[in-house]
Amino acid sequence: MKPVRASAPGKIILFGEHAVVYGQPALAVPVTQVQAEAWVQPHPSPPSPASRPFPPLSAGEGEGEWGTGGEIWIDAQDLRRRYRLDAARPNDPLAAAVRLVLDRCGGPQAPRAFTVAVRSTIPIASGLGSGAAVSTAIVRALSAFLGQPLTDAEVSAIVFETERWLHGTPSGIDNTVIAYARPVYFVKGRPPEPFSVAAPFRLLIADTGLPSPTRITVGDVRAGWQREPERYNALFEQVGQLARTARGLIEAGQAGALGPLMIQNHDLLRALGVSCQALDALVEAAQSAGALGAKLSGGGRGGNMLALVTDETAAGVEAALLRAGAKRVLGTIVGAEDR
Ligand code: MEV
Repeated sequence: MKPVRASAPGKIILFGEHAVVYGQPALAVPVTQVQAEAWVQPHPSPPSPASRPFPPLSAGEGEGEWGTGGEIWIDAQDLRRRYRLDAARPNDPLAAAVRLVLDRCGGPQAPRAFTVAVRSTIPIASGLGSGAAVSTAIVRALSAFLGQPLTDAEVSAIVFETERWLHGTPSGIDNTVIAYARPVYFVKGRPPEPFSVAAPFRLLIADTGLPSPTRITVGDVRAGWQREPERYNALFEQVGQLARTARGLIEAGQAGALGPLMIQNHDLLRALGVSCQALDALVEAAQSAGALGAKLSGGGRGGNMLALVTDETAAGVEAALLRAGAKRVLGTIVGAEDR
């Protein structure tokens, strides 16, 4: 058996977060500047430290010591934890992804002595899809290692299970855009529609540095919707309409006209109660520095926001975002990979 490596990009939601959970369309694109990576490496059982695919942890770190028995290991480099699959915590998402792939692809002949090592440059709980990307990399690498590489749709379906388990009621947009690694127009429960970007456009993605688990904001929006269904449904409808219009503009090569729609979407997200001072300050700073539009992206109450910029305004907007408190700013060109 040969070692297998797979990677998966981060993602950003252009329009439609939260409303997408309630059946409205949303647009999301992959962000290849940040990546999750998984390696599956066979080893004799127990493994030797030399068989570890990524640089070793320093002595004494991690929860298991190599060679204490058990054959399937998880090596979570960023969390500085390594442990046997059978000793994983009950709510461990990495173990869940490994088990789901074993159930699907691991027949009686499947190897049972390997390490799944994971690392990621995607900040956790920041709206960039780190959890779904890590699961996607694991599912791809492990299914290939087991001799049954899965299609994008199959990978997406397995990752959705891990998301559901972590977040309760995810729409499925994160696993879809990350597994397909293409811009998607997504409506919950329908096959994803990859869409084309007629003319590339430039975004800045600025991190508030405030981690904000999606599960919490999604739960709060649900509580609001249960209290005031009519008001929330009306807000969701308006968000959905923005996503439809935005898709048309992007497909027509008129992404420059997305700016006002982004501002409207941000205001609707504020009305849903998922913005915060730090996000509003970054949106305001981007606009004052000449961005065509800006909005929070993902679950909200922290995490990242987006600003639509041109080649001329990018540097000034980036500087303004950093001055306004962004912990880091990433630039990406949507549609650049398609040409
Ligand atoms: C999270 O990236 C997007 C949300 O709409 C939740 C979901 O769609 O599952 C907030």
